[in-house]
Amino acid sequence: MSTSCWLACVAFSVFCVLKASSLDTFVAAVYEHAVILPAVTLSPVSHSKALALMNQNLDILEGAVISAAKQGAHIIVTPEDGIYGIRFTRDTIYPYLEDIPDPQVNWIPCDNPDRFGSTPVQERLSCLAKNNSIYVVANMGDKKPCNTSDAQCPPDGRFQYNTDVVFDSQGKLVARYHKQNLFMGEEQFNAPMEPEFVTFNTPFGKFGIFTCFDILFHDPAVTLVTEFQVDTILFPTAWMDVLPHLAATEFHSAWAMGMGVNFLAANLHSPSRRMTGSGIYAPDSPRAFHYDRKTNEGKLLLARLDSHPRHSAVNWTSHASSVEAPPKDNQEFQSIVFFDEFTFVELMEVTGNYSVCQNDLCCHLSYRMSEKRADEVYALGAFDGLHTVEGQYHLQICILLKCKTTHLRTCGSSVDTASTRFEMFSLSGTFGTLYVFPEVLLSGVKLAPGEFQVSSDGRLFSLKPTSGPVLTVCLFGRLYEKDCASNASPYLIAHSLIIVLIAAPVLHYLC
Ligand SMILES: *[C@@H]1O[C@H](CO)[C@@H](O)[C@H](O)[C@H]1NC(C)=O
Ligand SMILES: *[C@@H]1O[C@H](CO)[C@@H](O)[C@H](O)[C@H]1NC(C)=O
Ligand SMILES: *[C@@H]1O[C@H](CO)[C@@H](O)[C@H](O)[C@H]1NC(C)=O
Ligand SMILES: *[C@@H]1O[C@H](CO)[C@@H](O)[C@H](O)[C@H]1NC(C)=O
Repeated sequence: MSTSCWLACVAFSVFCVLKASSLDTFVAAVYEHAVILPAVTLSPVSHSKALALMNQNLDILEGAVISAAKQGAHIIVTPEDGIYGIRFTRDTIYPYLEDIPDPQVNWIPCDNPDRFGSTPVQERLSCLAKNNSIYVVANMGDKKPCNTSDAQCPPDGRFQYNTDVVFDSQGKLVARYHKQNLFMGEEQFNAPMEPEFVTFNTPFGKFGIFTCFDILFHDPAVTLVTEFQVDTILFPTAWMDVLPHLAATEFHSAWAMGMGVNFLAANLHSPSRRMTGSGIYAPDSPRAFHYDRKTNEGKLLLARLDSHPRHSAVNWTSHASSVEAPPKDNQEFQSIVFFDEFTFVELMEVTGNYSVCQNDLCCHLSYRMSEKRADEVYALGAFDGLHTVEGQYHLQICILLKCKTTHLRTCGSSVDTASTRFEMFSLSGTFGTLYVFPEVLLSGVKLAPGEFQVSSDGRLFSLKPTSGPVLTVCLFGRLYEKDCASNASPYLIAHSLIIVLIAAPVLHYLC
């Protein structure tokens, strides 16, 4: 064999190996888990009691992992708090925590369980991944001792982290992520000093990971996509629905579309806490989703995804800035959507063109309903301002929604059924951000896969008449750089606090 031929053969076989070990598509699984909760106690339980409870949950998760693997899944995501539940203090969570090493140590707990002290949960997750040849994503608690003479060290001498872990199909720990944006009330945990950007490569694309409330903030969520260029986000969550614009399936699928990534969201299942809504979302459309307020059953979802989904850029202000606002002959009114005061106009006719503005944002809508019912009111709303309740974040939102009743002051209140279908809609806004998440939600809190699209000039428009009555059509924009703006009026903040105090002792939306 001549040298050149031999080289060609080597080159050819290297090519073959590369080709064989990378996949154009993969099968993703997410499991919505009805977590078994420990009894609420004031003092910590023993470690063995904590482990027994965690093993009960792991028994159920094991069933989901085995079933997913049998159906060909390459990776499975399980929910935040899915191993030990919710409602802990710093002390009562402690017996549930394990010391989770940096994945750089190159460790397969299933093969070497005693290398880092007592780590029975990591061992079990690793064996589940290894035995079933599947990537396993789970959420658990990490503890890291610190020196109390160090100013940052908590008085009890340890950091406690809400932590996502990933074991590859050999059982190796390949990712550890400490949740950055803790939700209010999550006092059992510390946030890391700096956001952690956790990614790992697989034969089916590059993955990034974050959890629940993180989705509303820039770091690490947006940076994982824009700078680290991940293909797929892993998202263990414990998400309480907030309608009209923050239902789990609605918002998570919108983030996938707005950011141009695959998004695997596994939620806890607890209908009495309004926790349900999991899905497998591609940028162009949801591939599988689940929403169930009626039963107490867990649910396994599977779907095939592109390993490297394509993403085309959208100019979120281009179309709207060219629209001539129609003459203002409609009465504007203010109404509250999840503590934010929107400016609305009512849709008076069966078809029409409407505009509404607030601060720097103008929203434009063209629509045709299948009928104009006397018993239902729809309105177009705009909001440009700082949200200050249960988290502080600047929003720009254009929303078409069904009002809860025919009284205009109920526009923006939570409602989950409707009767009016739309023949067509097209919504756009003069957004001052690249980060806009397009949402369409139908009666019964259903998504509308394949029924709408976003154009490169920033219109969210229907491709066909809606398959069900419409609850919400929304462009949810985030202005991350204005989150810390000091120009939030003290009056508004005080006003919001009063609303919270009056409204309820419970959180409206928990993550
Ligand atoms: C994994 O397989 C080993 C050997 O077959 C078995 O002993 C172990 O119980 C299995 N563990 C899990 C979590 O499936
Ligand atoms: C904690 O820090 C102090 C002051 O730097 C030091 O004297 C002490 O040995 C440290 N304790 C431990 C357990 O490392
Ligand atoms: C988006 O479109 C507007 C209006 O057409 C234009 O002024 C602006 O430069 C565009 N932005 C980008 C980033 O291309
Ligand atoms: C709405 O605007 C479109 C395009 O500008 C126009 O073709 C249509 O006739 C308008 N519809 C109504 C009801 O005014």
